[in-house]
Amino acid sequence: MSFHPIDQATARLNRSELAVPGSQPQMFEKAAKSDVDVIFLDLEDAVAPDEKEQARKNIIKGLNDIDWGNKSMSIRINGLDTHYMYRDVVDVVEQAGERLDLIMIPKVGTAADVYAVDMMVTQIEDAMGYSKRIGFEHIIETALGMQNVNEIAAASKRNESLHFGVADYAASMRARTTVIGGVNQHYSVLTDPDDDGGRQVHWGDMWHSAIANMVVAARANGLRPVDGPFGDFSDPEGYKAAAFRAAVLGCEGKWAIHPSQIALANEVMSPSEAEVTKANRIIEAMAEAEAAGKGAVSLDGRLIDYASIRQAEVLVEKAKQIAAG
Ligand code: GLV
Ligand code: MG
Repeated sequence: MSFHPIDQATARLNRSELAVPGSQPQMFEKAAKSDVDVIFLDLEDAVAPDEKEQARKNIIKGLNDIDWGNKSMSIRINGLDTHYMYRDVVDVVEQAGERLDLIMIPKVGTAADVYAVDMMVTQIEDAMGYSKRIGFEHIIETALGMQNVNEIAAASKRNESLHFGVADYAASMRARTTVIGGVNQHYSVLTDPDDDGGRQVHWGDMWHSAIANMVVAARANGLRPVDGPFGDFSDPEGYKAAAFRAAVLGCEGKWAIHPSQIALANEVMSPSEAEVTKANRIIEAMAEAEAAGKGAVSLDGRLIDYASIRQAEVLVEKAKQIAAG
């Protein structure tokens, strides 16, 4: 390991993260009763300009009055380039800060953006005498944010997670997409002709490098990487495929923009029983190997070593976290 220590962010389950518009308070109770891990009450893109003020009031009331159980509660504030943002922070943190766990900062572009919100939140928390510190979730969804993702990830002790905001990212990059979080058939290659002259189209994942880049920045700073929205909520298979490829790259969770996506995210982002059993066998086999003075052994015909233990321990730890709820 490097001599450079990596402090891990506050541990919290983040397999699923439900977006709920602040302008739709009738949806709050249902969200509170769902199986989602994190809820963000939205003040940004799901709320029309005329509704911003009322949405803020709905969120304050909802946070204070509704029993959200053990869910982590977040608000997505408006961007730092709008005049809504300062009131989002001041009003909600002052009036409902006790039940607020996280603030989600959209379209974050530089470390200074994080610094600015940190400064505001710190002043409000101190003035209100709150003992709990609110964490930050950052949506990486612009070319600038992706360019500065490493500095953003390291910019505050409040940072907990990075989220890939594929819809705005596509817009910022002028990428050719139509479906939020979906693929494009033109991001593909043709195989060389086989003996019969046949060729196959191999579709690629146009978001691969962006997500992988964000995962590196998150993990190098002890944060959770989370994949963002998948817009077609009538396509559970497409959602699961998108969630699995994000999980395979290291993401811990995925957004749900519709309640039906919560169970899909929780399923994909939880290790299966078979995976946990295998991980426990690896840990046991390595303990036996170590007792016999060996650093590597074979299990089911495959080599395992100390790196295998670390992978297995991550999995077992995650299973314990999920069981603890
Ligand atoms: C999320 O905010 C996105 O733009 O995808
Ligand atoms: Mg966005």
